Amino acid sequence: MDLPRGLAGVVIDQTSISSTKNARLTYSGYPIEEICQASFEEVVYLLWYGRLPNKEELQKFRKMLVRKMVLPAETVRLLLYIAREPQHPMSILRTTTSLLGTTNDVEHDEPPRILAKMLTVIAAIVRIRNNEPLIDVDEKMGVVENFLYMLTGERPDEELAKMFSTVMILQADHEFNASTFTARVVASTFADYYSCLTAAVCALKGPLHGGANERVFEMLEKVYDHDMDPIDYVKDAFKRGRKVMGFGHRIYKHGDPRAKLLRPIAEKMAKRTGNMYFFEVQTEIADYMLKEKGLYPNVDYYTALIYHCVGLKKDVFTTIFAACRTAGWLAHVMEQRREKTLIRPCSEYVGPDERHYLPDVND
Ligand code: COA
Repeated sequence: MDLPRGLAGVVIDQTSISSTKNARLTYSGYPIEEICQASFEEVVYLLWYGRLPNKEELQKFRKMLVRKMVLPAETVRLLLYIAREPQHPMSILRTTTSLLGTTNDVEHDEPPRILAKMLTVIAAIVRIRNNEPLIDVDEKMGVVENFLYMLTGERPDEELAKMFSTVMILQADHEFNASTFTARVVASTFADYYSCLTAAVCALKGPLHGGANERVFEMLEKVYDHDMDPIDYVKDAFKRGRKVMGFGHRIYKHGDPRAKLLRPIAEKMAKRTGNMYFFEVQTEIADYMLKEKGLYPNVDYYTALIYHCVGLKKDVFTTIFAACRTAGWLAHVMEQRREKTLIRPCSEYVGPDERHYLPDVND
């Protein structure tokens, strides 16, 4: 049997949340090029309920999410204890997501509270690692503004909030990507939300998925620290048979539509924060990768620089991706629960032919 490796091209179920048909990303029918102009809360509502909210619904939804961006005291206590180096932030997020699922009222936890808590946990991990005090939510601001405020300790200006909102929307969902598929498998067993999200965080951690953004910045730093020609870095990676992180995609063979929208944001952020050196290195590497390998940058390539410009250290980059993707994970967990079908595929067995155990042979 000629099996597609890694389920490439295999349609395993239906979804009405998002689509990458014809290499175009749409959320519930809206092209991302258009829906990225909406607010993050509108997009979360769309992913969860299949339609955009009206003005009143949006206001209520935003208020409810912001109010819920508060952590149980026991979670904060644990975070203060475990969130420090040398543990990787994604390992801390994995453990904390699991811990959130052990509080008394977990059975009553619904997606809005879960999303709100995940955002606050991620901001808290970042602050604790920087030895900075935790920031309380400001109910006068929206979800994105609060997330940035809780991460950096500074209320963002309008331009920054708008750009970061687009960044969060572009990463909010992506049909059956590895971490979402993982969450759906767990959801199909009727496990609770936190079990689904913990599994999703584990899948996102790896460098072939969400972990790529950290490696992208590692590359940019290496070029800078050693005053290297960026093309020499890439040639060396090729020589060693290594992949260049932030390039290539299972679905998008002619360019990731999210990367096209993120590139001008990365440039603007780099200009705002005096990081144009990194943007120029990225441009040089991207041109070379296309010429030499026909590979385009993916979503993680430009978010790496954007997160750096926000003032974040590279080891927390993937947790920010998790913050954005939690909205999509929850949408898929809800959809999978409605489906009421266990995901349990089959395998092609290629081991030894049937043989027989002889109890006395090892006497
Ligand atoms: N750098 C160098 N070569 C790459 C590459 C990269 N980033 N991505 C793919 N290739 C090459 C592979 O080596 C392979 O070459 P070959 O056919 O000569 O062996 C070919 O392109 C196909 O790659 P493959 O890994 O089989 O494609 P895929 O569809 O399974 O993989 C990714 C998609 C994302 C896993 C892959 O592109 C990758 O590992 N990229 C780097 C990690 C990354 O940025 N991940 C974030 C994804 S959003």
